[in-house]
Amino acid sequence: MEPRGRLVVMISGFGSNLQAILDACREGRLWAEVVLVVSNRKDAYGLIRAARAGVPTLYFPLRPYRERGLDRIAYDRDLADQIASYRPDLIVLAGWMHILSSAFLDRFPGRVINLHPALPGMFPGRDAIRRAFEAYRRGEISCSGCMVHYVTPEVDVGPVLVQAVVPLYPEDTLERFEARMHEAEHRILLEGIQRALERIRTVSS
Ligand code: GRF
Repeated sequence: MEPRGRLVVMISGFGSNLQAILDACREGRLWAEVVLVVSNRKDAYGLIRAARAGVPTLYFPLRPYRERGLDRIAYDRDLADQIASYRPDLIVLAGWMHILSSAFLDRFPGRVINLHPALPGMFPGRDAIRRAFEAYRRGEISCSGCMVHYVTPEVDVGPVLVQAVVPLYPEDTLERFEARMHEAEHRILLEGIQRALERIRTVSS
């Protein structure tokens, strides 16, 4: 049997997607293990989820770099060094709120994927769920969705691995729409990880 895929998951907040990954690994629905959780925010609840699951964590903030007059490239390079020491098969950005430059991405070609709560080409960047909800209210869109894609230095674009349409309804509140979106995200994230791991195995066999 194939060895379990080694995942590094990068977060900045609540970590519900991280939890979906941890649960799927524990229950054998995903043939992988989370070997490290990285956060750029100290108060990210996802760090607690990781610790509860017995997964090593790394808090890696940008601020000390800025205070020393160092740029994001230096940060990205050091972050890549730290992560590389865990020998990841795949790096999963699950609510990670820092744009990674080529200094990071070039170290892990074809091995960094991101989850974004909008369909390809729609609402890149922050607050995509709220912006989609507001666009629906203005009659500009009839549905939204989410995707898992390979990461490029541009924000929230890159070859798509999986996407799902998430409908919007007239009686929706932002909270209801958000809940439906997260449900879809948790599902496609697992599928995206599985597909990316399969591709890596195919390429390296
Ligand atoms: C998700 O909606 C993800 O798509 C976006 O940030 C959110 C993270 O949620 N990039 P969580 O921290 O996994 O609960």
